[in-house]
Amino acid sequence: MKERLQKLIAHSGIASRRAAEKMIVDGRVAINGTVVTELGIQADPKKCLITVDGKKMQGQEKLVYYMLNKPKGYVSTAKDERGRKTVLDLLPEVEERIYPVGRLDNDTEGLLLLMNDGNLVNALLHPRYEVYKTYMAKVSGDFTRRQMDMLAEGVELDDGMTAPAQVRIVDRYPDSGLTKVEIVIHEGRNRQVRRMFDAVGCEVVKLKRTEFAGLNLSGVHRGNHRKLTDEEVAYLYEVAGLEYTQKAKPEKKREYRERDNRAHAKKNASAWKRASDVHVPHDQKRNRRAGYRRHS
Ligand code: URA
Repeated sequence: MKERLQKLIAHSGIASRRAAEKMIVDGRVAINGTVVTELGIQADPKKCLITVDGKKMQGQEKLVYYMLNKPKGYVSTAKDERGRKTVLDLLPEVEERIYPVGRLDNDTEGLLLLMNDGNLVNALLHPRYEVYKTYMAKVSGDFTRRQMDMLAEGVELDDGMTAPAQVRIVDRYPDSGLTKVEIVIHEGRNRQVRRMFDAVGCEVVKLKRTEFAGLNLSGVHRGNHRKLTDEEVAYLYEVAGLEYTQKAKPEKKREYRERDNRAHAKKNASAWKRASDVHVPHDQKRNRRAGYRRHS
């Protein structure tokens, strides 16, 4: 199917739509060996060869999608100037040029999506879609109700106020003086969770992302990865407000429908306030979600 060239380039993950337009105008893009500088030209990537700077456009590869359970000690970039291990080292068999959807700090573990679908990456990271991310943080000290309320309402960081968050205490560890706190945010600023806790006077000693857009790590152990299913990819397209055209749209699984990220966003934007700060011993833990209470 024919598509505008800038859309194809953005879809391939090489650049954003706007940057792709500049690449075209700058004469860096060719169709079947002929440089095109006009915006609006359409091409069918299945029938013609599109090159950017003389190299085959990545979008002409098959699109692949992975979920990784990132351990600490890996940077979330494709290449590291300082020679540190990157998350790509954990997926050595993947031949396509995949890249992470957002970042987890070197010292943060947990769920990281990697893919070569630039369109989906851009949309999932766009603030407009308020994609929810859930983190489990172990923090120093007796995390108080007041601190929880402050986080839930939004705290002032050096790059501005944070949006309201869902916060609940999962466990307290009197021996070590640590508290395990779950926090759900939809923004994606640099080291945001650590800075939020810092702003209320707590240090994060361990941080793990347990969910991204309603997908969780179930069955994927630390350091391991798996391919996303077609249903999960279709679901992410829906979360990101994109049309899923890669295959006949698969039937969405009920569990995903129930966890629909956008419905979640609407319901929860400011209504969810804080959970209980009651200590729940390990052996009595109930459904994690039961801990949330609607603020009235
Ligand atoms: N917030 C952080 O502080 N670190 C991460 O890696 C992700 C969110």
